[in-house]
Amino acid sequence: MEPFKEKGIILGLSGGIACYKSVELMRLFQGAGAYVRVAMTRNATRFVGPSTFEAISGYPVFTDMFTPASGDPMRHVSWAEKAYAAVIAPATANIIGKLANGIADDALTTLMLAVTAPKLICPAMNTHMYENRVVQRNLDVLEKDGYIIVEPGEGELACKTVGPGRLADPERIFTRLHDVFLPKDFFGKKVVVTAGPTREPLDPVRFISNPSSGKMGYAVARAAAGRGAHVILVSGPTELEAPAGVRRVQVATAQEMAEAVFAEAGNADAVIKVAAVSDYRPVKVVPHKVKKDEEQLSLELARTTDILAELGARKKTGQILAGFAAETQDLEENAIAKLAAKNLDLIAANLVGGHDSGFVSDTNRIRLFYKNGTSEELPLMDKNEAAHVLLDRIAELGK
Ligand SMILES: Cc1cc2nc3c(=O)[nH]c(=O)nc-3n(C[C@H](O)[C@H](O)[C@H](O)COP(=O)(O)O)c2cc1C
Repeated sequence: MEPFKEKGIILGLSGGIACYKSVELMRLFQGAGAYVRVAMTRNATRFVGPSTFEAISGYPVFTDMFTPASGDPMRHVSWAEKAYAAVIAPATANIIGKLANGIADDALTTLMLAVTAPKLICPAMNTHMYENRVVQRNLDVLEKDGYIIVEPGEGELACKTVGPGRLADPERIFTRLHDVFLPKDFFGKKVVVTAGPTREPLDPVRFISNPSSGKMGYAVARAAAGRGAHVILVSGPTELEAPAGVRRVQVATAQEMAEAVFAEAGNADAVIKVAAVSDYRPVKVVPHKVKKDEEQLSLELARTTDILAELGARKKTGQILAGFAAETQDLEENAIAKLAAKNLDLIAANLVGGHDSGFVSDTNRIRLFYKNGTSEELPLMDKNEAAHVLLDRIAELGK
């Protein structure tokens, strides 16, 4: 899905330290095929010069209503009419207050009043300013008026306060707008997704695990939420942030994952098992750190709960059950055997071990096998893209 291809996006900047981050945001939109036109408040130009945005966007930057651009004296109207979306990043407390009250006293605020396309506001400011009731009230007003608010991140801010107020990461802003344009074909559906590795403890400081990064499962959860689903993401330990609009349940062991999945799967319309779950766990968990006294140490392992097989056995009519098979050999044979043994509707199989496919890469080379005996080879894809193809197929199967 390429919603931004050859579309016009307005990027508005108001006067905050985070203005420099908008260069990266503009590059993301351009990378997705969009034309970006930039409008800046006077104060924004004190943080980053318009020449930077002019050079990268290829368009004159709109900063002043009354300095005519050659041949276009009404840019606030002509730009608004061409806009597929508008994003204000960073949005100061000041511009949030002005927009919430219909004030149009400069180029950017006037332009925003004229835009009828989806509008994102990405606040960035000192934590106390952000938490100030009047700012929160203004954000509520904007949200009720149809603006989409991209919550700021938390951490140490440029002013050295710690808390919310940091401009959301450009990637997050990009994804939020991207999701606005996705079809809402999963609206009203409950989707349970599992992701990441599990950890089976040996002693208090060691565990058996695998290198799963969780990227594929998180991409599926993000894509399903973007398409309107109510998503529960049961996740093993990963470095990843929970995607917006997804309820994440964090677990560590296979047993915890099994319990969390069974608690949610009963009334789910689709269960998509992407997690790399340990097949075995140590029979005995030593209560203290094991010392290196022995030359050799044997570990006794026991099978963990086979979550997929259990879900397959409990599957209700109409529920779609999809699994992943990560294999190092005999991909087709193993995938087909797993599909049948676990009563799956669909299995996404991939060879792991290569640099462009599998556990930690951003791309995946997947082959889909269906219950009816057919299969489909997908080209090498970004995991986000692969997640959408998988959802397309699940939507088809659910019809
Ligand atoms: C160094 C500096 C950093 C600032 N950073 C922010 C900020 O991150 N967020 C914010 O709301 N205001 C910030 N301000 C205050 C705004 O620039 C000020 O409220 C200004 O009137 C905003 O104008 P504008 O919304 O028209 O761009 C900062 C001011 C200075 C001097």
